[in-house]
Amino acid sequence: MEEKIIIFDTTLRDGEQVPGCQLNTIEKIEVAQALETLGVDVIEAGFPISSPGDFASVVEISKAVSEPVICALTRAVKQDIEVAADALKFAKRKRIHTGIGTSPYHIEHKIRATPEEVLRRAVDAVKYAKKFVDDVEFYAEDAGRSDNVYLARVIEAVIKAGATVVNIPDTTGYCLPEQYGEKIRYLRENVKGIEKVIISTHCHNDLGMATANTMMGIINGARQVEVTLNGIGERAGNTSLEEIVMILKSHKSLNLTTNINSKLIYNSSRLVSTLMNMPVQPNKAIVGRNAFAHSSGIHQDGVLKNRENYEIIDPVDVGIKESSIILTARSGRAALNHRLEILGFQYKKDELDEIYHKFLQLADKKKNIDDDDIRILTGQVFTGEKPLKLELLQVTCGKSTFPVATVGLRINGEVHTSTASGNGPIDASFTAVKQLIKKTIVLEEFLIQAITKGSDDLGKVHVQVEYEGRIYYGFSANTDIVTASVEALIDAISKLK
Ligand code: KIV
Ligand code: ZN
Repeated sequence: MEEKIIIFDTTLRDGEQVPGCQLNTIEKIEVAQALETLGVDVIEAGFPISSPGDFASVVEISKAVSEPVICALTRAVKQDIEVAADALKFAKRKRIHTGIGTSPYHIEHKIRATPEEVLRRAVDAVKYAKKFVDDVEFYAEDAGRSDNVYLARVIEAVIKAGATVVNIPDTTGYCLPEQYGEKIRYLRENVKGIEKVIISTHCHNDLGMATANTMMGIINGARQVEVTLNGIGERAGNTSLEEIVMILKSHKSLNLTTNINSKLIYNSSRLVSTLMNMPVQPNKAIVGRNAFAHSSGIHQDGVLKNRENYEIIDPVDVGIKESSIILTARSGRAALNHRLEILGFQYKKDELDEIYHKFLQLADKKKNIDDDDIRILTGQVFTGEKPLKLELLQVTCGKSTFPVATVGLRINGEVHTSTASGNGPIDASFTAVKQLIKKTIVLEEFLIQAITKGSDDLGKVHVQVEYEGRIYYGFSANTDIVTASVEALIDAISKLK
């Protein structure tokens, strides 16, 4: 029977402390609801005494979310605890997260007290928080650089005072994985009452070891992990949620599981990145743009033969539709042929050889070869007889006008027309096209780009449509963006099988 690891998400507290990443209350509610759907067990919603905005966010998140425990951060200060308890008043399941620094640095240079005084304040804070809530988590700030013997005394005392969870943060991201694991083991073996509480990890990534340290914490007995989406957080960030979840999912021998619906990871990551204006680094594990992209010929060939040759995670498991094959000068015929097939082209071996030759010449000049380049290489964009052809497009649109479009399509030699309205000229035209083709297609993606910057420029349009479970791609370029859009849709429809 697999044991459960509790996912404590602090995207909205430690993550939100990042300069420039601040969210308003509405946005925080959106993230909190996404975290609930994702399946996190605990949401650290904020630090209520720090600002009226943080207070309001904890109140509103408590109302908007019902399944996860809502947690509010405090210092080991009575007023912080009172304000946190007030902010949590609407939460169905609530937790106060209180604590104090336990390393020599914090005791001497930040708190400027004696170790005994710090221990007393820790116990008082937990006892005071217990007056308001049953679930009290204690953090020993900078536990990573704290002396294990002293740390164990503090942890034992706060457990006696009623703490239900004890958090052992590597606040400065200093520990080596082995040291951090050893610290957790030491506490398990030397603290009376530790078996009654949950040990939590909270690792920062200053030396790039947050995930490794968290894993060593788990292996040595921690059963809660404090994480953020995309690993955002103070300085170099916190342990990333997606990495821990996918490590546990990939290494079945650990016999550990989480409540996370991994298929929602990618969308949740995008939401946080977009709302916080914080791009995800392209090579970020699990959610980076390149996490499932293959560019060398040997890897591409291997992935096309069997995905598992070069991928340990199925992209579908984290909500990404498919691995991507990036066409560069190092790509082989197999990768080019694969892309051609996706675009709806099929070639005999000698034809493919010829296109591959042209492809290599172009790839020497251009870093990445995109779908438009491929179409141009095959000569299919501007030539060839098409089963579907746009013969007429007339749109009425503008301010205070109801958008209407009439489309004339030549279908197998005969022109058919249809008129439709929509919320804009493109929507109206697409509806008219759909009425004519009489097939249930779903527009999955629609992208308009200008090739250069002038208003007289050519617009490029890419569409993806879904039909009977398969994706079809369409493309067109035109100075008239509505015409380009309709032609791109028709291009995709003409490939339906
Ligand atoms: O890094 C840290 O020590 C923290 C605590 C406040 C839990 O964020
Ligand atoms: Zn932290």
